[in-house]
Amino acid sequence: MSETFTAWSRAEWVDPHTLELALPTNNLRIYFLDKGIVRLRYVSGAVFENIPSYGVDPEYEPDYPELAEEETAYALEVRTPRLIVRIRRADAGLEFIHRRTNTVLNRDAEGMGHRKIEWNGEEKVWVSKHLPEGEHVFGLGDKPWALNLRGRRFEMWGADYYAFKEGSDPLYKNIPFYMGLNRGVQYGIFFDNTMRSYFDIGVANPERLIFGADGGVMDYYFVCGKSAVDTVRLYTCLTGLPPLPPRWALGYHQSKWSYGSEEVVNALVAKLREQRIPCDCVHLDIHHMNQYQDLTWDRTKFPDPPGMISRLEEQGIKVVTIVNPGIKINPDNYVWRSGFERNVFCRRHDGALLEGSVWPGLCNFPDYTAPRTRAWWAHLFKRQIAEYGVRGIWTDMNEPVMFPDKTFPDDTRHDYDGYSCSHLKAHNVYGHCMARATREGMAQFAPDRRPFVLSRSGYAGMQRYAATWTGDCEADWDNLKMANLQCQRLAASGVSFCGSDAGGFLKHPTPELFCRWMQMAAFHGFFRNHSSGEFGGQEPWLFGEEILGYVRHAIEERYRLMPYIYTQFYKYSTQGIPVIRPLALQCEENPDTFWRSSEFFLGDDLYIVPVHHPGETGRFIYIPDGRWYSYWTDELAPRSLKETWVEAPLSRLPVFVRGGAVIPRWPVQQYMGELRNPPCMLDIWWAPNYEHSSSCFSDEGDGYGYLEGLYRYMTFNYIGGRDYFTLVRTDQGHKAFSLPVLMLRIHCLPAGARNIVFTVDGQPRDIRADGKGVYEAEIPVCFTRIEVSFTRE
Ligand code: NOJ
Repeated sequence: MSETFTAWSRAEWVDPHTLELALPTNNLRIYFLDKGIVRLRYVSGAVFENIPSYGVDPEYEPDYPELAEEETAYALEVRTPRLIVRIRRADAGLEFIHRRTNTVLNRDAEGMGHRKIEWNGEEKVWVSKHLPEGEHVFGLGDKPWALNLRGRRFEMWGADYYAFKEGSDPLYKNIPFYMGLNRGVQYGIFFDNTMRSYFDIGVANPERLIFGADGGVMDYYFVCGKSAVDTVRLYTCLTGLPPLPPRWALGYHQSKWSYGSEEVVNALVAKLREQRIPCDCVHLDIHHMNQYQDLTWDRTKFPDPPGMISRLEEQGIKVVTIVNPGIKINPDNYVWRSGFERNVFCRRHDGALLEGSVWPGLCNFPDYTAPRTRAWWAHLFKRQIAEYGVRGIWTDMNEPVMFPDKTFPDDTRHDYDGYSCSHLKAHNVYGHCMARATREGMAQFAPDRRPFVLSRSGYAGMQRYAATWTGDCEADWDNLKMANLQCQRLAASGVSFCGSDAGGFLKHPTPELFCRWMQMAAFHGFFRNHSSGEFGGQEPWLFGEEILGYVRHAIEERYRLMPYIYTQFYKYSTQGIPVIRPLALQCEENPDTFWRSSEFFLGDDLYIVPVHHPGETGRFIYIPDGRWYSYWTDELAPRSLKETWVEAPLSRLPVFVRGGAVIPRWPVQQYMGELRNPPCMLDIWWAPNYEHSSSCFSDEGDGYGYLEGLYRYMTFNYIGGRDYFTLVRTDQGHKAFSLPVLMLRIHCLPAGARNIVFTVDGQPRDIRADGKGVYEAEIPVCFTRIEVSFTRE
């Protein structure tokens, strides 16, 4: 070490990737986990306790980078191939610099602070960072606010926020991950602390971003990928790749609080089929239970659950049932009795069982942070899953909620996986652990199927266990806009399998609002129409013939796009690439996009423009770089990186497709699996002077065969010129997985294209013009190369 003054008395490598500094009032460990991921952990004592994280995936394997160290008069610097971490001599403040561009990405202002809390022995911890002018701040899970969070303070303390509004905070989820975006700057910070935490983004001081918590440890990760989307990807790898959902779960879900009897459910399904509304799943809310007791059925209304479920399965409908953490205190009920006998319920600080009211009346609440409680909870699902054939479990009210005090008293004790603590520390992971245990139960009793869990609450990394929705929104235009922002924000926080209550949960949507919401939701990760039932029904046929037609069209389009959507989920589950992306993250190189928040990408190749206002039949949008066509009409979008006017008739949202992309599609089905082996259309849109790669994943749609190689992952490399294009395909996966018939459909060759020569693997073939400017041909399933050339008039 140099002789000059340093704020640390000792700096040493405790292993090849961990540097420890002894600071005047605490110690700092810097873990270099990846060329783009650095963990910073401060502790007050000399000991670094290894409390397991609920956020970081236990399976996460660091990809340790090569490191180089350098001392300057100003700082000690450690370099990874992507980052420079600079530790200032004067105050041990940290600076993160992009190595190639030499840009400061993020730097401490006052740095880390801490103060003892006398009454419980915890320590308040915080970090103060510079918030440069122009920096936009994204992320933080489900916050119902503009995409840019700057100028506000947000908290993490999961709450049941009925009828939340723009700015309501905190909501259901606790995802302490944010991203900074500025010209040439993008990075993410994940503050892994489960206590009540806050993010003050320029409120106390417009030039500071301060995050902190009322206890726990200052433990955060600095993340920087190759691009903003790649930063989300790296964060997702750190907090856990989501499991691949069963394909049916990506279809349309119909729900209401509640479809209250078998008769009602049967009539609903008959109507869905009669109206040709594709649908894969019906959700049963709390009224299917006997006195709202988990895992029971009201036998007067649902006399034969397994019979009903199997008859629905024959019609292609899966059933999802709801559970809540509140277990009615009732010795006659197996769930409560077995929980009581096994001592799995939460207790107050002096040992009394925690009691509180939820739907069924007075309840006890399982402590899901205890491994043995999770095992007990999982075992409860045997009958529901293995015997009755329920295909998904919806875990609700798990912030957790207790009437009327909102949540558990602070003194409630939790196991916290062996590191016993009060509710103050466990609150934010309660729902997360419930979702985990539920998933384990589903996996245990249907080992050949992929579990589907839908959870309202969760912590960072909740994507490992569950899909989610944005909660109890109202049916108005503000909430439609917010639902779009929240879904984008959640996707940028690692949670792409997310949707809203399409149409709104409370109040009754106007036909136009309902139509616009369904059109947008059809392109979000999770697509469910759910409502409180208090304001009338919200099924697609209740808004008149015209709206029914438009909504059917939106749902059908999701089913057509299923091979594409499923491929995005495969990429998400294997690489962490978010399924939907805010425009600003995808087009970070153009700061004009930072202000736009409604348009989003679904995968790389579809660009969706929701309509957020009543009466709007056209709007200004941003057309990204590249060549974009109307997905519906093939019309070329104006080349512009500025605002452009597009028509947005009520019949459909503006949607654009990237020239050069291959979009795999299926014919419409009423449910996944209606057609045994549907033909796959490979639609491609010509683009000159352009190279692009797109892909298509296909497998059986459920089960784990794909892990044994029973799948195909086709990559299509497109190269387009002025009068030609080639498409070269490479495959991964097992040849034994048979592909369906493949059809190629070529869109948007230039108007004057003549003498089209079409070859597949070097052999000339016929190609038909469909009369609307699209050329079609059946192509051999094993093709590897397609060439199309033409002359131009
Ligand atoms: C609250 C949930 O957010 C809502 O979706 C559900 O319908 C009700 N609980 C009743 O279970």
